[in-house]
Amino acid sequence: MDAYIALLPGDGIGPEVVEAACAVLDAVAQGCELVLHCETYPIGGQAIDAYGTALPDTTLHACLAADAVLLGAVGGPKWDDPTASVRPEQGLLGLRKGLDLFANLRPVQPHPALLGSSPLRPERLQGVDLVVVRELTGGIYFGQPRLRRTFEGQEQAVDTMSYTVNEIERVARVAFELARQRRKKLTSVDKANVLECSRLWRQTVTRISQEYPDIQLEHILVDAASMFLITRPASFDVILTENMFGDILTDEASVLSGSMGNMPSASLGSAYNRLGKARGLYEPIHGSAPDIAGQGIANPIGTILSAAMLLRHSLGLEMQAQQIEGAVSKALANGYRTGDIAQPGEHRLDTRQITGVILDYL
Ligand code: IPM
Ligand code: MG
Repeated sequence: MDAYIALLPGDGIGPEVVEAACAVLDAVAQGCELVLHCETYPIGGQAIDAYGTALPDTTLHACLAADAVLLGAVGGPKWDDPTASVRPEQGLLGLRKGLDLFANLRPVQPHPALLGSSPLRPERLQGVDLVVVRELTGGIYFGQPRLRRTFEGQEQAVDTMSYTVNEIERVARVAFELARQRRKKLTSVDKANVLECSRLWRQTVTRISQEYPDIQLEHILVDAASMFLITRPASFDVILTENMFGDILTDEASVLSGSMGNMPSASLGSAYNRLGKARGLYEPIHGSAPDIAGQGIANPIGTILSAAMLLRHSLGLEMQAQQIEGAVSKALANGYRTGDIAQPGEHRLDTRQITGVILDYL
């Protein structure tokens, strides 16, 4: 089988963690009859420096033509000027929109060996196994108008949150289908006591739930959800929420797994690739970590687990995906740690060393 993968290392630690994930993908490919065709394209700040835009056309077209996209991270202090008209994040948002990747899956499964790395008490983390399905191409991230103007003699900024029924239905179906393969519980998170978008969200999710009588549906307001996520995280199975709430809640949820560095994600739409599977974008949920960029010490596990999701969802290689997840799990169980998950006094491996350990366990 041939698979075409667009690699977008991006900024900061992006190139380091993507290199690690590629080594793992190459090793897996050797073990099965998979021929990987990987090409690297610019995105984010690095693309702004070279081409004046965070998402060059060649990058978008290559991603549209690829079977899957693996991304590192975008952004950094160099491009943080709030008055700049081009920003690295536009690359990522443009890519999500350009590929119509409306469903972002962010699984949270704290590894038993890492319960001590989370600031939460270990007994709270017992049995946590949840997935956040975050709507990714709508809401306040993309709503119009978005502008600055003068209003009553003052400078005013406007962002718009908007959702159509169709946008809610399609991501809700992804969440219900996922819940069906899991523990059959779906928590929809909104702010229906205040926002019109959330009232449409709740109505629509409730209506779609009639197609899924086997799934237990609950609605929780986002402020309460943020609290329950740390007071009773094990009570969640699939969490469905809109774009910005999902952004915030998944950073919070990453604390459950000990470090953001461990967290993978998959962004899917309704398009199929050449292989008849979902064309997807896979990326760790962490950012570009400019403070440690270039030192070779970043935790590559989030990206390596994203590569596993890529094999599962875009190439249909479930067994190989589990092979990677198993190897990561063994490395953690046997005490191998990068700096972000090491306890005081524990030996810290750098990016290449922990990748080497994972390759050995494959
Ligand atoms: C994420 C990130 C992005 C987002 C940024 C980099 C635009 O925080 O993927 O969670 O807000 O979606
Ligand atoms: Mg985020």
